Amino acid sequence: MHVHTCESYERLSAHAAALVAADVERKRNLLLCPATGSSPTGMYRDIAGRAAGDPELFRSISVVALDEWGGLGEGDPGSTTGYLKERLLDPLGIPADRFAAFDTTVDAAIACGRMRAQLERIGPIDVCVLGLGVNGHIGFNEPTPSLVPHCHVARLSEESRRHAMARAMKNPPEFGLTLGMREILAARHIVLLVTGEGKQSVAARLLAGEVTTMLPASLLWLHDNVDCLVDMALL
Ligand code: GLP
Repeated sequence: MHVHTCESYERLSAHAAALVAADVERKRNLLLCPATGSSPTGMYRDIAGRAAGDPELFRSISVVALDEWGGLGEGDPGSTTGYLKERLLDPLGIPADRFAAFDTTVDAAIACGRMRAQLERIGPIDVCVLGLGVNGHIGFNEPTPSLVPHCHVARLSEESRRHAMARAMKNPPEFGLTLGMREILAARHIVLLVTGEGKQSVAARLLAGEVTTMLPASLLWLHDNVDCLVDMALL
């Protein structure tokens, strides 16, 4: 894991956007897997700005969702799909047939099985953007004594149920749908954003370098090509 310390959230966002843009320069039709949440919002704004200046750059990429909140109605604006549509898919002009989302209209386990099969067809992911949960989760791979390797339905931790996206919902979700560590670790390049309130202690645990399923992000130490961008405010 290459750890980069960033002076501010703006610098972290610009650096992350530059890393993804460089990947796209090298492979115009790459498969991007973007996290949602507050960590990557600035980076997606930067990417949208780059796309406005160079509309060809991102035109051929495909996108696969990292996770989705469970029990939402179709088209719920608070969903992962709603978030990505507003910040990435629409600004970059990515059509629906190049966006693979968890299907919220079918049983969650079926949706996860379909996502796994779809990724086996279109994967591996070229670049995966991850945020770090306050409890060390990535996607909805929550801290547990053992992890489920593939796409699965996850019972949400207390911390995930208190996430701003969940708190904004009428009925806070009990479960989430997520790529598993297997699909995440198969990505060719991973950009991990470590930023946000209340993350000092999880950042310190991650940077200590111990690998444990009780801190799922720590499994990223096992991957050869991770850029971990840490907001200096957390150190
Ligand atoms: C959420 C999402 C993740 C996100 C993480 C961190 O629960 N499932 O995809 O990366 O938690 O969120 P934030 O960046 O808002 O701190």
